Amino acid sequence: MNSSPTSGEGRTGAAPPSQVEVEPINRRSFLGVLLGFGAMVVGAALSVPLLRFALHPLLTKTTDIGWSDIGKIEEFASLTAPMKKLITVDQRDGWRKIVSEKAIYVLPAKDGVLRVLSPICPHLGCSIPWVEAKQQFICPCHTAIFTLDGIRVSGPAPRPMDDLESKVEEGVLKVRYQYFRQLIPTREVLA
Ligand code: FES
Repeated sequence: MNSSPTSGEGRTGAAPPSQVEVEPINRRSFLGVLLGFGAMVVGAALSVPLLRFALHPLLTKTTDIGWSDIGKIEEFASLTAPMKKLITVDQRDGWRKIVSEKAIYVLPAKDGVLRVLSPICPHLGCSIPWVEAKQQFICPCHTAIFTLDGIRVSGPAPRPMDDLESKVEEGVLKVRYQYFRQLIPTREVLA
């Protein structure tokens, strides 16, 4: 009785493993590999713009705010009290472009330099009006009081009113509107 695998008993007719390994790649399978590789390259190339589109909100700053015009410089040359102005702010948030109107204060010039203040209270974010009769900024929410320069006099606000970055370009006063963290003693820009 011969139980050796070379006897042929119990075989299913498949080629021996040694024959499969040495069989050369025929033309059809080579073309298949080539087509598969080509499809992979094309797929990868096409996916780049799609990926860039999908990741755009993550790769760009969510609060990208540009410069807003306040007005011609002559308008503020002889200020004796803070002047409230409304500005248009363009803000990019991911794919969206948000246009909004914000209030700011232009302060009387000191040594020829104009300052621009945010009216948002650094305590809890109420809008602070200039009170002409008192010659002070007085927050209506919890009565924080600030001088004409925005310096804190009294109340719960943890710091002065926040300065906004400003510049003069071709005779026009411009401002970069930003938001600041509330309830902390230092001025920290929110992203
Ligand atoms: S929000 Fe202005 S004092 Fe509280």
